[in-house]
Amino acid sequence: MFKKYYVKDAFLSEEGSEIELIGWVRSKRRHGRLIFLDLRDSTGVIQVAVKQGVSDSKSFENALEIGLESAVMVRGIIKKDPRAHGGVELHCNNLKVLGPSLEDFPIRKGVGLKFLLDNRHLHLRSPKVVAIMKIRSILMDIARRWLRDNGFIEINCPTFITAAVEGGATLFNVEYFGRKAYLTQSVQFYQEAAIYGLEKVYSLQPSFRAELSRTRRHLTEFWHLEVEMAYAELEDIMKIVEVLVYTMVDGLSREARDILKVLGKEIKSEMAEPPYPRVKYSEALQILNNKGVQINWGEDFGADEERILSKEFEKPFFVTNYPKEAKAFYHMLDPTDPSVCLNADLLAPKGYGEIVGGGQRIHDYHLLVERIRENGLNIEDYKWYVDLRRYGSIPHSGFGLGIERMLWWLLELPHIRSACLFPRTPARVYP
Ligand code: 4AD
Ligand code: MG
Repeated sequence: MFKKYYVKDAFLSEEGSEIELIGWVRSKRRHGRLIFLDLRDSTGVIQVAVKQGVSDSKSFENALEIGLESAVMVRGIIKKDPRAHGGVELHCNNLKVLGPSLEDFPIRKGVGLKFLLDNRHLHLRSPKVVAIMKIRSILMDIARRWLRDNGFIEINCPTFITAAVEGGATLFNVEYFGRKAYLTQSVQFYQEAAIYGLEKVYSLQPSFRAELSRTRRHLTEFWHLEVEMAYAELEDIMKIVEVLVYTMVDGLSREARDILKVLGKEIKSEMAEPPYPRVKYSEALQILNNKGVQINWGEDFGADEERILSKEFEKPFFVTNYPKEAKAFYHMLDPTDPSVCLNADLLAPKGYGEIVGGGQRIHDYHLLVERIRENGLNIEDYKWYVDLRRYGSIPHSGFGLGIERMLWWLLELPHIRSACLFPRTPARVYP
């Protein structure tokens, strides 16, 4: 049952060779005794010419009746033809319908965005969606390769948890056999436990945020690349972020060049070439205030603030040293100014905003207990997390990178949901 040839092979085949393709009928045009089909598979689209008298009569009848998005097997001869898309056409001898479309395919030109999202299970066939998913796969692969080559071990952490990592407001509740549990917002705490055995770890798995924010950059479920490193301070982890982000962009610029063309895009490695500017929160606040944004010291930047701020930059840039009130309790405080954290967010330029959040963790037992109390949290909920600081605790740091945020920026997508196979937003859990 294996396919022998793909559409991409047809483009590489010699003129006159015979080849058998399996794919789906993307479009159909009839000119009297000649029917043109655009045949699509995972590797591309090729024009198939079905001519009465050339292909057998049953095949011509099949082509006449066939509905869009039917699955077919086509055998034919490769012909170079500058008029065809890609310069190659398949002259059909034989066409067999493998799986007909039972009704008219509902997705056609001009349907609205909501219709496309409601029919995402069918829209996934579109060459543009296919291109984005291929790029996504390459992007994750590049990140994994770099991390593995640099001594990081991939670990898989639980999704069911019992206490918030990033604040209680965005937790999804789960009824867990009569107990209360949540969906994790980040696997950071499990990674912090893992570094005592593995030292350098990463995970690539979903995180969940019950965030009602209806922005172009918020999902309720997203894929989170998280990294944690033993014996690392803020500066060390910022270096890792810089190199990793550059490696991902540079890798895409080379490995995804042809696929990017389907989207009419080009990615240049220069757009993410280190070093990245570093801006302290207090400086960022000043920039925002000068632009007339009303925001006070201590408040976190939201989507609007980050959009305005990041329009001032051409390259990704770090914003560091946020006020401790604006960040989660686990952030290490700056010993030279304990009102701010040793943290760093990486913001994508030109209005996109945060793609990475991270920094140095509190490794001192007493300070951590104090910060949990100051934040009004229940120390019992964080018992095992605090316990890590009792036995051989050392400085350590890490970060989380949102895969869809990165794609949203690099592909200049109108909305982050286009980076997902089946997006999850406050308004959407179907299909
Ligand atoms: O800044 P965040 O909340 O940081 C953490 O979760 C840390 N515990 C990570 C760590 O240090 N291990 O989230 C990290 C990144 C953000 O920069 C963003 O890219 C992405 O996760 N992210 C989201 N992506 C899509 N939709 C959302 N609602 C997101 N929330 C965070
Ligand atoms: Mg953040």
